[in-house]
Amino acid sequence: MIDLTTPLDIVRKSFNGSSCRDDRALIGQFLTPAKIARFMASLFHEDIKHVRMLDAGAGAGSLFAACVETFIARKRRPLSISIVSYENDQSILPFLKETMEHCELRCREAGITFHGEIRQEEFIAAAAVQSENRLFDDQHERFTHAILNPPYKKIHGQSTTRRLLDKTGIEVSNLYSAFVWLAARLLEPGGELVAITPRSFCNGPYFRRFRIAMLDMMSLQRIHVFESRKKAFGDDDVLQENIIYHMIKGGRKPERLILSSSDGVDFEKLRSRRVPYALVVSPSDRDSFVHLALNDADDSIMERVEVFSSSLAKLGLDVSTGRVVDFRAHEFLRSLPEDGAVPLIYPCHFESGFVKWPAESGKKPNAIVDTPDTRDLLLPSGYYVVTKRFTAKEEKRRVVAAIYDPRKIKAPFLGFENHLNYFHAKGNGLSGSMARGLALYLNSSLFDQHFRLFSGHTQVNATDLRKMRYPSREQLLRLGAHVKHQMPDQATVDTILEKEAVIEG
Ligand SMILES: C[S@@+](CC[C@H](N)C(=O)[O-])C[C@H]1O[C@@H](n2cnc3c(N)ncnc32)[C@H](O)[C@@H]1O
Repeated sequence: MIDLTTPLDIVRKSFNGSSCRDDRALIGQFLTPAKIARFMASLFHEDIKHVRMLDAGAGAGSLFAACVETFIARKRRPLSISIVSYENDQSILPFLKETMEHCELRCREAGITFHGEIRQEEFIAAAAVQSENRLFDDQHERFTHAILNPPYKKIHGQSTTRRLLDKTGIEVSNLYSAFVWLAARLLEPGGELVAITPRSFCNGPYFRRFRIAMLDMMSLQRIHVFESRKKAFGDDDVLQENIIYHMIKGGRKPERLILSSSDGVDFEKLRSRRVPYALVVSPSDRDSFVHLALNDADDSIMERVEVFSSSLAKLGLDVSTGRVVDFRAHEFLRSLPEDGAVPLIYPCHFESGFVKWPAESGKKPNAIVDTPDTRDLLLPSGYYVVTKRFTAKEEKRRVVAAIYDPRKIKAPFLGFENHLNYFHAKGNGLSGSMARGLALYLNSSLFDQHFRLFSGHTQVNATDLRKMRYPSREQLLRLGAHVKHQMPDQATVDTILEKEAVIEG
């Protein structure tokens, strides 16, 4: 097989070595290692005679080079390959040009007509114009393939990019989703897209529109997950969890799709399974979350949570994010309790499954003044269950819950700080036994494992918590009976939950 990509690993190393990582991070420049590029190229279906490929944010060109290498190696080679690449970083252009020339040479040797174009342009602006033109004529450029490792960067509210995207009706907060969405639009019907991006779009409110638009416009064929967070881009210290996906424009959703996983770039030992499409994207889910159950252990989690078939809404409960943003309410915060001030709860108040207040560490304020200005930020006293939104790396579980017990903290009102989510009954407290049962459930390993199945980021959003399965009222009351003055240890919590599952199962 002609090897176009291995030399690109050398280019990648030397480019990474000669440029500053912070500068590259600023423009979202993490170049794809050859092994990943080849794997991505292998996902495209065979048998296309005339390939017209888009590589947006092409870097040194590893992705399209891997495709050219793969297509040349196939039994039924294409007759022509045309590549359109976009790249706006001057410093990488010489490498991109060289890669394009190598591709041309290899294609010529293989008897394939080749046309390569490097557009030194900003992709969003160029694609936005094309997407606008499309409304008026049908002659705009359409691609049979798009391959992408787009830049990962937040889009700021006032930026030109934001304004351009608004015009095209693309509502996203990160460049990567804008690139993928625009690339998908530029495909012809039946065109294929393979991309590597963070998996953050699979759930949560920020990517809702992107998910819904993509899953509507494209049919998802395959998702590949890297089991180890750091290994995909290894040397480049990319901490995001990345996934690779393959989609086809239009057509019916497949009955099943392929979910595969590998430990880093060890694709030879990849594990793969065919999963009903509806298990990955539930047709009844209006938010179109993408669930990634990868193996038998994940299936077993899904099965075990099935005995808990209630939802927060059915229980008459909801979960919200703490309303007190401390730097905004700065003037009202007090380090110690005092007359006229009520408890303000932070993650540092968590202790053995309960809120212990006041905290003696002195690092965070303990109280907030109760005035007409702060009343909207406060809640009436009652039993609440609180979870941390951000957990420290050393914490075993991502979901950590504690009970706010009004018998232990005497105050008419209280505030939850913004780093917490709190469970409540229409803005009021829960019954004590429900709160104890809910906290035990949230602190179980089963809830945590289930939560991680569809949440790729470390932040625990209220929206994500809202979508989980919960025990029924009766189950919660039974669970709550096991919690006395502190949360039992992890093994006991898990045993209690398993027993509950057996009672119901
Ligand atoms: C994550 S890197 C990936 C590069 C290459 N596709 C690869 O896989 O190795 C993204 C590339 O997009 C380029 N880029 C960033 N913003 C861009 C924009 N608005 N238009 C075109 N290219 C852009 C960066 O310079 C960078 O080379």
